[in-house]
Amino acid sequence: MALNWGRTRRKTALVRVIAYPFRCSMFTFRFFAVFVTVAVLVFLAVSLLFAFADANDVNSGFPHNAYGSKSPSIRRSVLSFQWDQLKARYDQICKQAEHHRSLALAYASHARKIKLENSKLLRIFTGLSRNYTGLISKYNELLNSGRNLTTDEPVLRLFEKEVKEQTKLMRQVIAEAKESFDSQLKIHKLKDTIFALNEQLAKVKKQGAFSSLIAAKSIPKSLNCLALRLMEERIAHPEKYTNEGNPPQPEIEDPELYHYAIFSDNVIAASVVVNSAVKNTKEPWKHVFHVVTDKMNLAAMQVMFKMGDYSGAHIEVKAVEDYKFLNSSYVPVLKQIESAKLLNFYFENKLENATKDATNMKFRNPKYLSILNHLRFYLPEMYPKLHKILFLDDDIVVQRDLTGLWKINMEGKVNGAVETCFGSFHRYRQYMNFSHPLIRAKFSPKACAWAYGMNFFDLDAWRRQQCTEEYHYWQNLNENRTLWKLGTLPAGLITYYSTTKPLAKHWHVLGLGYNPSISMDEIKNAAVIHYNGNLKPWLDIGITKFRPLWTKYVDYENEFVQSCNFVL
Ligand SMILES: *[C@@H]1O[C@H](CO)[C@@H](O)[C@H](O)[C@H]1NC(C)=O
Ligand SMILES: *[C@@H]1O[C@H](CO)[C@@H](O)[C@H](O)[C@H]1NC(C)=O
Ligand SMILES: *[C@@H]1O[C@H](CO)[C@@H](O)[C@H](O)[C@H]1NC(C)=O
Ligand SMILES: *[C@@H]1O[C@H](CO)[C@@H](O)[C@H](O)[C@H]1NC(C)=O
Ligand SMILES: *[C@@H]1O[C@H](CO)[C@@H](O)[C@H](O)[C@H]1NC(C)=O
Ligand SMILES: *[C@@H]1O[C@H](CO)[C@@H](O)[C@H](O)[C@H]1NC(C)=O
Repeated sequence: MALNWGRTRRKTALVRVIAYPFRCSMFTFRFFAVFVTVAVLVFLAVSLLFAFADANDVNSGFPHNAYGSKSPSIRRSVLSFQWDQLKARYDQICKQAEHHRSLALAYASHARKIKLENSKLLRIFTGLSRNYTGLISKYNELLNSGRNLTTDEPVLRLFEKEVKEQTKLMRQVIAEAKESFDSQLKIHKLKDTIFALNEQLAKVKKQGAFSSLIAAKSIPKSLNCLALRLMEERIAHPEKYTNEGNPPQPEIEDPELYHYAIFSDNVIAASVVVNSAVKNTKEPWKHVFHVVTDKMNLAAMQVMFKMGDYSGAHIEVKAVEDYKFLNSSYVPVLKQIESAKLLNFYFENKLENATKDATNMKFRNPKYLSILNHLRFYLPEMYPKLHKILFLDDDIVVQRDLTGLWKINMEGKVNGAVETCFGSFHRYRQYMNFSHPLIRAKFSPKACAWAYGMNFFDLDAWRRQQCTEEYHYWQNLNENRTLWKLGTLPAGLITYYSTTKPLAKHWHVLGLGYNPSISMDEIKNAAVIHYNGNLKPWLDIGITKFRPLWTKYVDYENEFVQSCNFVL
């Protein structure tokens, strides 16, 4: 029993160690990759040690007890086993209460930010969180004051009942609050429109942008929980999930099939993309999904895709680190990430100044630097045998069979994309610095911008026209961020300036992550819908009426999805 305790404690310690990098993300990635590896090794070593100890127990103890009926030692071991079970159950309830407590706090801070019926909702949510705290400490005290779970099982049942009741109440409150949150968002949208006409509202908009940016940056608890549980599963049953020793499936490289590229560190989002694509295609076995993630999420991603049912579709899961050619001597963005200058840029200013400028803050989001985000510029080298590939963001849902895209005549162009300009909006002028002589010489400020998220690439045309070299040329020039400020879109607009083929709008409908007024008809007819913007469907703040279109493809059968409280 002492041994078991030791193991549980070590496990929680490990969980905390791993949980941390999820929050602080890419810029310390290399450091944490080493750290996590070490932590995992230590964990493995420790569990190995205990596995041996357990094996000894079985050899020495169990056979005697199996026949020696009512010896005191067997009674003790049955009781302690029971106690372990009850304690585990107790911890689980505690965790659930803790989870809801943080959720209540998150809602409270959201209510505070958008000044929604100010005091009322704020009071309710802080009250809820306080009640959870109260529940947790009440039962902790009971436990510490000598109540014994084995002899006092009703204590556990009471605890569970109280947490359940509290949670039921909380769900009601959330359901009501979300409606007012959504209408508040419409007001925000209206403010944005006014802003386009009236610059005096600039301040208001900036505050709004900043608060939703904070929300979008924080990875919610369930997502964290899922990644960790999947990773634990991978560590516990390595033999189930490894492909080592097996020859690679020939389909993965078969240019006759339909290939998709999905680059993501979000397990649930990536699985929704693949699920939705598979469910809406007629011949799933002709489709190949190339999922690339980072080293930290590789194990979780492998388990997730091994557990799902994809009707014969082929799925390759790799880590970006597996592509050795992506090193800092070749990839300008990696060189720039590693340069001390940029790190300084990230750390020099204190929060106080950062909050003053939402644009600045946006650039500070490490997401914009993540190499996963820039992989889209290396498709021909990552998939040397393929002629065509469809690039999909992880915040999209596929609603139709997409094979029609492969039949489109690309007319020698490299990138098939949906254009986004209207009137004077979304023109090249808005994405890059036209005061710069090199930009002015090469591009038209009125050129129409297009969207990333669902892009059909002709890889042969790409290789012929040397787009990667073009991209490197400009990305190197932008070292000091004088050509464009942030993200991959300006780099894409520059790279595929004269080699983009506009696609019909219904292929790709955008804005479900920020614009509540997109028409439902347009959404219904779309082949792909895109939750670009900060209000992602997996976040609490996702726009309610658009969420079912996404949750429909969440694999709720998956035991880890269930145990991480995704249904709320
Ligand atoms: C907190 O608990 C008290 C007493 O159990 C209850 O009266 C109150 O309604 C609860 N508050 C919330 C916000 O659930
Ligand atoms: C509870 O009681 C069981 C059986 O009497 C005993 O094995 C266990 O150690 C006790 N646990 C605590 C925390 O007192
Ligand atoms: C970096 O990648 C290039 C090819 O892109 C390769 O020639 C070179 O050897 C790699 N460098 C290292 C250190 O791996
Ligand atoms: C904020 O910026 C100003 C100048 O822009 C600088 O003087 C000040 O030290 C900064 N404050 C912090 C906390 O970094
Ligand atoms: C960026 O700035 C540094 C120093 O300010 C300069 O040495 C370097 O050449 C600049 N890079 C580019 C691409 O202009
Ligand atoms: C735009 O380019 C000009 C010319 O190189 C430069 O002076 C200016 O600082 C750039 N603007 C921004 C916002 O980087």
